Amino acid sequence: MSEKKNMKKIILKELSNDEFITGTSLAEKYGYTRSYISKIVNELRDRGIEIESDKQKGYRLLKRYDIITEDMIKRQLGTIYIGKNLVVLQKVDSTNNYAKELARKGAPHGTVVIAEEQTNGRGRLGRSFNSPANSGLYYSVIIRPDYSIEMAQLITSCAAVAVAETIDELYNTDTKIKWVNDIFLGGKKVCGILTEASVSCEAGKLEYAVIGIGINVFDMRDSAPPELKDVATSLEAETGRRLPRSCIAATLSKNLEKELKKIRSRKFIPVYKSKSNLIGKRVSVTMNGEEIQAEAVDIDLNANLIIKLDGGNLEHINSGEARVAMPEYVK
Ligand code: BTN
Repeated sequence: MSEKKNMKKIILKELSNDEFITGTSLAEKYGYTRSYISKIVNELRDRGIEIESDKQKGYRLLKRYDIITEDMIKRQLGTIYIGKNLVVLQKVDSTNNYAKELARKGAPHGTVVIAEEQTNGRGRLGRSFNSPANSGLYYSVIIRPDYSIEMAQLITSCAAVAVAETIDELYNTDTKIKWVNDIFLGGKKVCGILTEASVSCEAGKLEYAVIGIGINVFDMRDSAPPELKDVATSLEAETGRRLPRSCIAATLSKNLEKELKKIRSRKFIPVYKSKSNLIGKRVSVTMNGEEIQAEAVDIDLNANLIIKLDGGNLEHINSGEARVAMPEYVK
C-alpha cells in the first residue's frame, strides 16, 4: 500500500473516535506538515466521506458516517474460510470485476472484496446496480468448490437464503425472496445478487464462482435516482436502524459459510421456498424471448420456479425473470 493511502486510512481511524482532533496534533503525531494533513482530509472528502471541521477544535468524522475497514470486519468474523483473505477498497468499478481478476490470479477460496463505492456496479441481465458511497454494502466472495455445472446453478439461491437470514437476524425482520436473486423488505427490493462463474468444459466442473451481493443499507431516499424510488428500499428506511456495514459483512460471511454447506443436500431449499414472494401469485415470465403469464405454484429442488400455464401444463424455469403480473384492470 502506498504511504499516502496508508495515511488516509490512519487519519480516517483517528477521525472516527467521536472527538475533534486538530490538524496540528495529527501532523505532530505522524511527522507530517499541517498542510499535508489538510490535503489528505480534502481527498477523503472528495471521496464522499463527510468530515466536520472547526477552526479551534479541528476535524471529526460526521457522526452518521459509517467507516468500513478490513480490521473492523476481521474483528467480528467467526468464519473458517470466508473473509480470511479480505480486501476493502474505497472505490472500484465493480467488486465482481475486481474479484474475478483476483480469482484468475489464483486468490484463495473465500476471498472477499468489499468497496465503499462502485462506479459501475452491475446487476443481472446487463442492468446496473446503483452503488454510491456511504450507502450500501457491496460485497463479492470468491468460492472454489468442487461443484458440477448443474450444482453451480444453485449458488445464487443459496446465497439469497444467507442474505435473507443475515438481515432477519440483525434487524428482526421477515425478508422475502423474489425468485431468483432479489431480497425484498416492505414490498421493495433491498438487495440483489449477481453470481458469475468460470467453468472448465473438459472437466464439466466449476473453476470458481464470484458471488456479488449488493445490500442497500442506509436511507438514500433524498438522493436516489427517481426510477428506483418506488421499487427499491434500504434496511434503514424499513427498520429505522443504522447498523455498521462491517457487522453486516461479518454476519453475512458467517451465514454464507453455513448455507453453502447445504448446497449438495439441497437443505437450504425449504427456507428459500418458504420465503418466496411469488408462489401462489400470477406472474409474468419471459420464456424463449416471449412474455407469458402463468401462476407460480412451487420451487423445485434445483431452485427452479414451477409455473402452471393457462392450459394446465407445468413448466420448470431456471433462468430469466418473473414478476408479479398486473391484474387486467390495472393495465
Ligand atoms: C441485481 O440486482 O440484478 C444484482 C445486483 C448485484 C450487485 C452486487 S454489488 C457487489 C457486486 N458487484 C457488482 O458489480 N455487482 C454485485
